[in-house]
Amino acid sequence: MTEQKATNITRHAGAITRTDRSQLLGQRGCLVWLTGLSGSGKSTIAFELERLLIERGRAAYVLDGDNIRHGLNSNLGFSDEDRAENIRRITEVAALFVDAGLITITAFISPFRADRDQARAKLAGGEFVEVWVSTSLEVCEQRDPKGLYKKARAGEIADFTGIDSPYEPPSNPELTIANEQGPPKEAAQQILNLLEQRGYLNAGSA
Ligand code: ADX
Repeated sequence: MTEQKATNITRHAGAITRTDRSQLLGQRGCLVWLTGLSGSGKSTIAFELERLLIERGRAAYVLDGDNIRHGLNSNLGFSDEDRAENIRRITEVAALFVDAGLITITAFISPFRADRDQARAKLAGGEFVEVWVSTSLEVCEQRDPKGLYKKARAGEIADFTGIDSPYEPPSNPELTIANEQGPPKEAAQQILNLLEQRGYLNAGSA
């Protein structure tokens, strides 16, 4: 938990409920949390899922690691503490998006189980859908789309996930995607099917 610095602050509730927003949008807000190594395919799957959802007339939005780190989290690096703060802020933003009724998709390495579990705890039961993009380090390193593994191996980047910084796989994810076995489109479709099964693509009372 981070320190609560501000005092004399009071929460204020509006007249519009989650159910009102759900009725308006014809869906239920939820958080699809993609986790996996750099180069595992998280962002590609996230944006493909967003595209599929919009195609179906559903309101969706992707929060992506490399993008958020240019703005909101531009003051954070890759130490364990900074990664935890990165995920804490993302969790807060994502929870607001879910409250607004959006099908929210996050694509962050989010290497620490405790940080992901905090995100899960922040949301109501069933609203957090953890998806492990389980592409192996070998395959990620072979792909090396940004040339970062090469730099990390050469000692030019410190604390690189999978090389000299740990990755803790989810112990009980809602879905595991063996990305190396199929195209991102199939992975996105698999997630979409799960959301449909769980009733998130229709209006509900939550
Ligand atoms: S997280 O660990 O805090 O969740 P996040 O997903 O935001 O990471 O950012 C990961 C992205 O930052 C990677 O895909 C990669 O492009 C870039 N990056 C730069 N340095 C590192 C590093 N030391 N470890 C991992 N990713 C890094």
